[in-house]
Parts: sequence; structure tokens; C-alpha cells
Amino acid sequence: MRNIDRFFCLTLTVCLTAGAAKAQKRTIDQRVDSLLRLMTLEEKVGQLNQYSGKDVTGPVNANNTNQLNDISKGLVGSMLNVRGVKDTRQIQAVALRSRLKIPLLFSMDVIHGYRTVFPIPLAEAASWDMEAIRSSAHIAAKEAAAVGLHWTFAPMVDVGRDPRWGRVMEGAGEDTYLGSMIATARVKGFQGEKLGGTDAVMACAKHFAAYGAAMAGRDYNAVDMSDNMLWQTYLPPFKAAADAGVATFMNSFNTLNGIPATGNSYLQRDILKGKWGYKGFVVSDWGSIGEMVAWGYAANNEDAATKAIIAGSDMDMESKAYIGHLTQLVKDKKVDVKLVDDAVRRILRKKFELGLFEDPYRFSNEAREREVLNDPQHKLIARDVAQRSIVLLKNQNELLPLAKSGKTIAVIGPLAKSKRDLEGNWIPLSDTTRVTSLYEGLQSTDGKNRYLYAKGTDIMGREDAFEEAIATAKKADVVVMALGESWDMSGEAKSRADISLPGRQTELFNAISATGKPIVVVLMAGRPLIFEDIANKAQSVVYAWWLGAEGGNAIANVLFGDYNPSGKLPVTFPRSVGQIPLSYAGYSTGRPVKNPRDIKYKSAYIDLPNTPKYAFGHGLSYTTFKYGNLKISDTKIKKNQVLQVSFDLSNTGKYSGEEVVQLYLQDPIASVARPLKELKDFQKVMLKAGETKTITFKIDSDKLSFYDPQMKWVAEPGNFNIMIGSASDDIRLNSSFELTDK
Ligand code: NOJ
Repeated sequence: MRNIDRFFCLTLTVCLTAGAAKAQKRTIDQRVDSLLRLMTLEEKVGQLNQYSGKDVTGPVNANNTNQLNDISKGLVGSMLNVRGVKDTRQIQAVALRSRLKIPLLFSMDVIHGYRTVFPIPLAEAASWDMEAIRSSAHIAAKEAAAVGLHWTFAPMVDVGRDPRWGRVMEGAGEDTYLGSMIATARVKGFQGEKLGGTDAVMACAKHFAAYGAAMAGRDYNAVDMSDNMLWQTYLPPFKAAADAGVATFMNSFNTLNGIPATGNSYLQRDILKGKWGYKGFVVSDWGSIGEMVAWGYAANNEDAATKAIIAGSDMDMESKAYIGHLTQLVKDKKVDVKLVDDAVRRILRKKFELGLFEDPYRFSNEAREREVLNDPQHKLIARDVAQRSIVLLKNQNELLPLAKSGKTIAVIGPLAKSKRDLEGNWIPLSDTTRVTSLYEGLQSTDGKNRYLYAKGTDIMGREDAFEEAIATAKKADVVVMALGESWDMSGEAKSRADISLPGRQTELFNAISATGKPIVVVLMAGRPLIFEDIANKAQSVVYAWWLGAEGGNAIANVLFGDYNPSGKLPVTFPRSVGQIPLSYAGYSTGRPVKNPRDIKYKSAYIDLPNTPKYAFGHGLSYTTFKYGNLKISDTKIKKNQVLQVSFDLSNTGKYSGEEVVQLYLQDPIASVARPLKELKDFQKVMLKAGETKTITFKIDSDKLSFYDPQMKWVAEPGNFNIMIGSASDDIRLNSSFELTDK
């Protein structure tokens, strides 16, 4: 007899089933309702309670609890930070000793791979390759599901326009459209065909909402934002995740216009569960219910619990506010039990969908754990995704690709031999024995060159071995410098006020540059950095983010031309911190700068151009692409019509390569001022040298729509500008058309 049927019969109250066949016919909602009727109020509140295991990922709450005791009494619905077949089995067994034997959900931050470390999400976003991104999430899910996990706290779909904010590394960058596409790809990758497969885990769209706009880029900070900005820019990736069927949402630490997101009914009840009809559940962020006290929005934990449940937070991660107070609050009629029932239903539904009532141990199988974690395919896919994520920012005189033999290459810099830094932040387990450093990658990709090495300095500038580095560079034909951030300089609670290269790395670069040797700089980081001297003086600059375990091999493939770089920046690289927040999707203003030499009384800085160092969408290839022959199907369309825009893309260089062609639109006159351009579509196209393909984009009224002052989604009649190009600042084709009323 299956577990759920067993407890129905055991309790004697409602022995509803005669056997498994009958039970199977009942819908999940009916099974949830039957179970709910059996539960005491304490057990219901227990389902809303989540504790962390020993790998803590937030500040530890002083109120120590005997977790196992609570689990055995049915007072815990989920554990985070418990993983591995052995541990999850042991703890699940304790849950199954509880009166109703409701299985636990095991969850963890599986952000960019579990055992196989993939590039950080921001890096993957630079691939603009939805299949690569989906497959990376799918492998992460497979590995997570093989170690007893049911649920990952990913994807982070926060739009990130402030590179000071350490968490930009975890998202898809600054753009609403690209972010929405990536949110969909990641949700599909994690959740597979449908929940319940042993190669899928529940995904979690976080952090709802607007966390990416934390003031001054400082983590956990307030957000003050108009509805116009919220709806046009920050909400769509969440909506895309919901539409893709994401099983859960996580709310966020920030306030939104004075009200903490966790206690925010507008976000969670009106928008998410109301307007969007979302049926999954919302978990709080770590301690965010309790933190409403420190925000000055709740008097104490009891008040915080009241406000959070009313606002639609279903599960309490580590605040212990629900388990501590909700039962009494319901008994005292301060909280309606219907709110608790609704939250419990949402959580139980997911446990049924995962098949945990049929077999609570179905994700905890030792043979599968061994097999999946050692699948050699995963490494190869990680390498492929890593090379697709690399962005070639500059390549003067075609210094790259490097010759494969006969050269002496000096590899210099603190990240040349580093392994841990390549893995990046936010990984469940670091295993540097599985990581290939850049130095090793270069050697194994090509053994015929001669390699020299010098560290020069460490990341923070405490070591001074400049002399040796200069001497090494002098002996070489070409220098490859590996510079950047250490793995723990971006991520949660890793905001930086100064995002230039840390330590003495710029100084080291300048010293090597003074030797006159040609230099390829490989930058590794979890965010856009500012590196003016390097950008201006190095012959070639490769942005390699934190690429994961296969990073060294992937970079080597790019440097030697075994892979022709195809990444494009998913986020703007500013010239200076003073320009932040900076996005390509800015506004004309009433006083636009038309000529950079004429900025008097214009919206400009007197000490810096408005333009970024590297624009959103920028990324070079070893080949060149020509755009031509633009055709539009009409110069006027009605709202129910689709405009077709086509053009010819030709590979005019020597190498096969991929180009990300980008479609931007502008609504120049509208009932609210609209951005100068907005990405509305893109395609990643592979062309052999000399080949030409015709590319077509379709523009329907959805692509022309926005939220008007009444917050209605409308496409307003009038002219629209079409811009097609290789980057947001490299538009190759222009056109326009009119949208007519009828
Ligand atoms: C806090 C982070 O904001 C969130 O993204 C993460 O999922 C939780 N901690 C759990 O580790």
C-alpha cells in the first residue's frame, strides 16, 4: 500500500481508499483536500516551516530548535541545505515517523551546477543561447535530483542594472526581454517535461520583486520604484517564469516603496496569485519574515508572521515566525485559518506532483547518485556552455586566435593557475580536482608552444613579484594575462562600491604593457568590472566571467581558435561607477546629447561621456558579418497583423562563426516616455565563411505594447522605429513602419 493510502487507513477517520487503483483516479487536488482534513492546525503550520541543515546560507537564528524532534512531530515541511542520498534518507525517515507521514521537501541553492560546475548564470546569459542554458539547468537538475534534492532556489530572474550589486552574477543581466527568455529556458531545464521525473527538480523564480534595484547596489537594501518601471522592466521575467510553469517563487529582502516584499500583498496576492493566477507556492527568503522587524515594519516576530501570511508568503525559511506564532494567531482569530489552508494546499500539491507520497525516497537512490554524478557527458557539455559564454571585447590587429605552435607564451597574473576562482561563487560543493585552470587548459589544448608562468601579484595586491613577471614577459612572443576577482568577491552580500580590478592588478598590467609585448588579457569576474587602462592598451581583451570547472579548457579553445567566440554582453559595462545604474534602454530626456562636443544645458556629465565602455549586446568574433538587403513586409500594419522584417546576414571573414543578430524597437511618441530602444527579439545564427542567410523577425502587437499610465498593456497607433544590429550601439539596419488604429 502506498504511503498516502497507508496513513488514510491508519488514521481510521477517513479510510477513503480501498487500494492504489482507486486512489490513482483521484486528482491531486482531491488528495490534497483529503489530507488537509486530517491535519491538526499545528501540523498545517508545520508544513509552512522550513529549517536549514548544517550548510547555512544566512545568519543563524539564535532560537535553537531541536530540528529532528520537530520533524518527527510533523512540524517541518521542508529542509534546505540537506543533500546527499544518505542524509536525505535519514531525515526523510524521521518525517515518516510523524503522525501523518508527510514527506519533507529537500531544497538547496543549485545555481550553476551541482557536482559539475557550469558557468555562473550571468556568464551563461552572455551566450544568448537558450538551448545551452536549458541544458546546463537540466544537468544541474539531474545531478541535484540524484542526491535527494527536490527543489533548487533558482533561477534568479531579477533584472540587474547595477554591477555594484554582488548578485548580478546570479542573474541574466540587465535586459527584460533577454531575461524573460532565459527565465523560461532555465525553468524548463530544471523542471524537465513535468515534475515527478527523477531528472527534474522544482525551480524557484526569485526574488519577488525588484531586488535587482536595491539602492546604491547595496545588498538587502530598499527599493523605491514607480509602477511604470516595475511593470515594464522588472516584472516580465517573473511572469515568463510563471508562464513556463515554475513550481515556486521566493520573495525578497528589499522593501518595495516602503513595504517589505515579504509582507507585500500587492506583489504576492494582487499580482502573483491574483492577476497572474499563480498556483505554486511562495517561500520567504532566508529569515525575511523576521527581518520585517528590523525594517521597522513589524513590531516583533508574531506581528511579522501575521503580516507575511496575510500578504501571501506561504513558507517561512528560517525565521521560525510561523512555527512560533501562527497556531496561536489562528486560535486568537488574528489570522484566518483559510490563509493557512491555502498555503498548505499549495505546498502539498507540489509534494504530490513530485510523487513523494508514492515514494518519499524516490530521489534518494545510491546507484543513481553514483552514476549521474560521474556521467562524463556532463563535463563536455559544461565545456561547450563555457566557451559559448565567453565574450571577446577587443581584438586589435587580429592578435587572436593565437598560433598553435612555435611561440613562447608567458601566462601571467593571479588567476592564471587558479582553480577555485574559476568555479565562482554559489556552488554546493567545491572540488578543485575537477577544475582545469587556464594555464593547464592552454597546455593541454596545444602542447607545441612553450609556456612560461609568473604570478606577478595576488588578487588583493599583497604579493609583489612584478620583477619576475616583467622578466618572464620579456622572454615571450605574446603574453596572456589572467586578471579579475576572486570567487568570493561577487555574490550574495558581496556588493562593492569600487568595481575596478582589485589590488595591484592594473599596475601589474601597466608594467607588463611597458615591455611592448602583445598582450591578451583574460578577465574573470562575477560582474562587469571597470578596467580603463586594459581596455585602452591591451591588444585583445577576453571577458571570461567565472566559467566553472571547464573554464580553462574553454578559454584555451577560444584563444587558439578551436571555438570562434560568439558571446555578447548581457549587461552594460560602465566607464565609471558614477554612471551606474546604466542601461542601453535609457531615455532620450528633454535635453538629449546629439553631439558629444555640445553638452551645455544637456543631459550629460561634464567629466565623462554618457556612453558605456562596452555596450549591451557587444561581442566580437574572429570573423566579420555584413548586414544588408533589409525588407519589411509593409509600411503600415493593423493591430492584429504581423510585420515581417527580413535581411541578409553574410559571413564576410575567414572563419565559420555565430552571430547574435538583435532586433530593437522604439516607440518614439507614446502616452508614457519609452526607452530609446528595447530588445524585442534575437537569433543566434551559424554561418560558414562566405555564407549568406536570410533572417526573418516577426513583429506582432505584443512586441509593440507597454503599460500605459493606467497600467493597461497597449500598443498605441503611430510610428515605430526598427533597429537591427550586432550590438545595442552597433545598429546596422534601420527602418520604420506605422501601426494603424484599425
Ligand atoms: C538568501 C538568498 O537571497 C536566496 O537567494 C537563497 O536562495 C537563500 N538565502 C537560501 O540560501
